[in-house]
Amino acid sequence: MKLGQTGIALLGTLVAVGTALAHTGATGIVKERMDAMSEIGDHVKAVGTMLKSGELDLARVSVAGEAIAKHGGAAMLKLFPEDSLHPPTEASSAIWTEWAKFQTLADDLQVAALTLKSTADEGGDKSQVAEAFGTLGNTCKSCHEAFRIKK
Ligand code: HEC
Repeated sequence: MKLGQTGIALLGTLVAVGTALAHTGATGIVKERMDAMSEIGDHVKAVGTMLKSGELDLARVSVAGEAIAKHGGAAMLKLFPEDSLHPPTEASSAIWTEWAKFQTLADDLQVAALTLKSTADEGGDKSQVAEAFGTLGNTCKSCHEAFRIKK
């Protein structure tokens, strides 16, 4: 359960930031990616809440994994055209100077989300789901630490 605990701890940070954030006024591609990230955040929150409260709905976990995976990899990269930094973005310009690293993290997100989905689809128990969730949470954290500027 160790990784799972990490995942649950991460959840607080991720979701709190997501909801507290004023993405009011965002337009165009910046709005699109904030919306995508918020949707990812909602799914993470749903799974985290289940892991916390003790009632695990594997079908719901599977839906979350699939939805997050759809936003990962190439789909995520498309939301970050070069130098798209208009306010109120929190994206760092380092994304484009360290594109290979950013790309790897976007792929990691997709792989981790698909692993969460398959863990659920294969009837994983709570500790297995928590572990996959923890791995997923680490991809969020790694990318945000490197490429997101908290405002
Ligand atoms: C490949 C990098 C990357 C990964 C992986 C990633 N994020 Fe993000 N995330 C960002 C960047 C960059 C921003 C800031 C975007 C902006 O403001 O233009 C962001 C913003 C957000 C926001 C704020 C959205 C808003 O309305 O402003 C939330 C919530 C969020 N991410 C949740 C998550 C969660 C949950 C995960 C993991 C399941 C995740 N992210 C994985 C890069 C990433």
